[in-house]
Amino acid sequence: MSNRNSNTEVSQSNTIVQMEKKIEDLSVQSAQASEIALSTILKAVNSKDNYSLAHAQRVCDFSLMIGEELGLSQIELSKLRLTAMYHDIGKIEIPEYILTKPSRLNEEEYFIIRKHPLLSSQILKNFDQLKDLAEFVKHHHERFDGKGYPNGLSGESIPLFSRILFIADSFDTMTSSRIYQKGLSFDVALHSLIKGSGTQFDPELVQYFVKRFKEEQHQTAA
Ligand SMILES: [Fe+2]
Repeated sequence: MSNRNSNTEVSQSNTIVQMEKKIEDLSVQSAQASEIALSTILKAVNSKDNYSLAHAQRVCDFSLMIGEELGLSQIELSKLRLTAMYHDIGKIEIPEYILTKPSRLNEEEYFIIRKHPLLSSQILKNFDQLKDLAEFVKHHHERFDGKGYPNGLSGESIPLFSRILFIADSFDTMTSSRIYQKGLSFDVALHSLIKGSGTQFDPELVQYFVKRFKEEQHQTAA
């Protein structure tokens, strides 16, 4: 090969490396911009109910415990983190009086609040890099026995991340104190998850969560 040819090849390969780097930078910038937009929406929801931000952070922690027990890869865990963090952002479209109502919701209000998984998934679909997560968010209130919403999916036809989220979300909802309820103790809530295994929740995932949560409780107490 002549020197001239080999120089041209080196320069072409440098250009390709530079282009790949630029594309990578753009995609990192775009992912960051998406996350800023989503966290702004989450903060807006939080300004209505003074609950959703801390709830999302705890749901995130609980979901990651299950994900780690399952041995998910770092990439999968970071997708799970985003899914958990933004699972309820559709509540931005739910009237504040429903989100903060101190008494039981009536039938019409309940119908409206049940739209939030679909609304969250519609928001996520607008972000190129996060649209894969829209499906997981959409199904985070499906029950293992098929009696959940919005589609009444059952068993493993419910996406794995949605089954994880439902456990993490329910556990945090049970243990959180709100104006209208005093949160349950961790032990009572764990028992409730076990009781709902196979009907509400994926039994295998509940086992992973209970095991990991108890381990962390022991570590904190030690
Ligand atoms: Fe939800």
